Amino acid sequence: MNNEVPFEPFRIKTIEPIPITSRAERVRWLHEADYNLFRLRAEQVTIDLLTDSGTGAMSAAQWGAMLQADESYAGARSFYRLQEAVRDITGMPLMVPTHQGRAAEQILCHVMLQVGSRVPSNQHFDTTGANIEAVRAHADELVIEEAHDPQNLHPFKGNMDLDRLAAYVAEHRGNIPLACLTLTNNSGGGQPVSLANVRAVSALLRREGIPFFLDIARYAENCYFIQQREAGQEGRAPIEIAREIFSLADGCWMSAKKDGLVNIGGFIALRDSNLYDQICQRLILTEGFPTYGGMAGYSMEALAVGLYEGLDEHYLAYRIAQAHDLGARLKAGGVPILEPVGGHAVYIDARRFLPAMPQSYFPAQAISVAMYIEGGVRTVEIGSVMFGRSDEAGSEQFPALDLVRLTLPRRTYTSSHLNYVADVGIRVYKQRSALVGLRITQAPPALRHFTAYFAQLEVGE
Ligand code: F0G
Repeated sequence: MNNEVPFEPFRIKTIEPIPITSRAERVRWLHEADYNLFRLRAEQVTIDLLTDSGTGAMSAAQWGAMLQADESYAGARSFYRLQEAVRDITGMPLMVPTHQGRAAEQILCHVMLQVGSRVPSNQHFDTTGANIEAVRAHADELVIEEAHDPQNLHPFKGNMDLDRLAAYVAEHRGNIPLACLTLTNNSGGGQPVSLANVRAVSALLRREGIPFFLDIARYAENCYFIQQREAGQEGRAPIEIAREIFSLADGCWMSAKKDGLVNIGGFIALRDSNLYDQICQRLILTEGFPTYGGMAGYSMEALAVGLYEGLDEHYLAYRIAQAHDLGARLKAGGVPILEPVGGHAVYIDARRFLPAMPQSYFPAQAISVAMYIEGGVRTVEIGSVMFGRSDEAGSEQFPALDLVRLTLPRRTYTSSHLNYVADVGIRVYKQRSALVGLRITQAPPALRHFTAYFAQLEVGE
């Protein structure tokens, strides 16, 4: 990659004004939102880095394709266009659309798992883990040790620990109906998995006859990292790397809202026709007929185009550089971040940002709240709120990392927007001794980060 940040490889054709707000308004809105940024209205947010999921801008080619859509209930032309793109890229002959990634997870878990099944992954995303647990199976995580150290510069911190996987398979042999890899590893900082690791995981699982599925929400970014960082892969096009990765798996599912460059959509692709039949039965029950499965014809058209745009090398170079540049600016201003910077986001390391704040005060959430008040920037906590659990005795168990994710919507914000974000982050860091912790006043039992209510701790609390 060039050392210079490549400019945006597109020009702007349609614009949307962004809200400019005052600090007094933000303080009030946040209080009304019970300090949960998911409760804010988008018009109260100046730069929205909550997620890269479905928040990107589509291209003129995608909008053009949408006008050609066929909205037939059964056998729509738009389905066959999408199927052709998925077949071309994944090499997997069978595909069903779903309305988004978690719908694919729900179907796979329902069809493939039983009560007590074990499902290993490098790291499951939270919806994946929750869907596995919803059918009372176990979601297990075998990512390499380096992933837990935010300062370790391992180039493939998303890798599965192969020794642990071998021991795990020996321990649970016969009770592993599904094994996964998440590309890139969102829960661990958007870190990639190496091609060598995918090959090794695949070889082990194939020897054992365990179905191997990939969560490919951000696979194109993962392929770009492989091209940039893995010996022997330089000069290989991301699509070629992707094709090899897919050849090593039995199936995959995608939240197309990420590297599919669409606002909504997903799919499952696979090879096994028996499994496909079972998936179709469940799909009809919960999503729709197999030639639309929860997507509009126009969304399938947009995805058929977006899948290729997401693999474009100039686009990927700009995208990864944008994240790295934001990370470098924050770091230069003293803000502790997770390194290496991942593909879709910069993650602030809350433990080093607020070392004296107890974990039970949710320091990452406190930073997230402060960034909103300081500059109207909405980020997302990926830490103790999202992954913390109460154990049987009722005390909180905290995850290894406590992070604030600054997630970059695709093709949406320019470098100058992100320079502003870096300035806001640095200003908050300079005021860190004044940040106050939070407590949860009310929360649901699962996926609590979306709907929890918080209150700021009073001095002396
Ligand atoms: N897998 C990964 C790796 C994800 O990051 C997500 C969603 C999903 C599956 C679920 O897909 O949202 O389409 O149902 N991640 C979003 C995020 C929500 O903000 O990181 P979905």
